[in-house]
Amino acid sequence: MPNPVTLRSIVPDDLPLMERLWQLYWHDLSEFRGMLPDDTGLFNPRLPTDLHDPDSAGYIICHGTRKVGFAFVSGVETPPLHIAEFFVVRAVRRSGVGSLAARQLFAKHSGHWEVAFQEENPGAARFWRRLAVEVCPTGYREERRAVPGKPHLPPDTWLLLAA
Ligand SMILES: CC(C)(COP(=O)(O)OP(=O)(O)OC[C@H]1O[C@@H](n2cnc3c(N)ncnc32)[C@H](O)[C@@H]1OP(=O)(O)O)[C@@H](O)C(=O)NCCC(=O)NCCS
Repeated sequence: MPNPVTLRSIVPDDLPLMERLWQLYWHDLSEFRGMLPDDTGLFNPRLPTDLHDPDSAGYIICHGTRKVGFAFVSGVETPPLHIAEFFVVRAVRRSGVGSLAARQLFAKHSGHWEVAFQEENPGAARFWRRLAVEVCPTGYREERRAVPGKPHLPPDTWLLLAA
């Protein structure tokens, strides 16, 4: 891969960029969960960016100088660590950017990690399971957990990665 993949902490000036990438992310997820844009054409416009919350961390995924995705982590101070949101733009998918970014996240925050995804999102399911095998040579656990407050949705799959 010619360009290095790096993570950079989100700062207040990044919020306009984040709002746009957030829309692309939700458009991708809408394929699996059936969300529709609101009357202004926006998906779920609330960004999970409380930049002052010490328990969470947000990163822009950079490919060389280009900003190609984001990752949000929770449980920084109250483990387990959890990848709350993760996105790579389509143009650089299947080139290893997501895997390199996730590995950097794991390295930045050491501890017990949990990753959730929906089985209806087969790309994400394959991506996270493959990564779990690679980063947990001694094995990892899987659980199905109901989505809080959304009994109509199928349970999420959680991968519990050994620390
Ligand atoms: C899931 C996502 C982050 C993967 O990012 P990526 O940069 O394409 O991932 P990588 O290139 O590192 O993929 C590594 C491996 O994961 C698997 N994988 C990734 N995307 C896949 C897909 N769409 N279908 C099947 N396998 C996939 C493959 O095994 C791949 O290796 P290969 O390309 O050599 O076959 C990206 O597709 C994305 O942002 N999707 C939309 C948002 C989303 O679903 N986020 C996750 C929410 S839980």
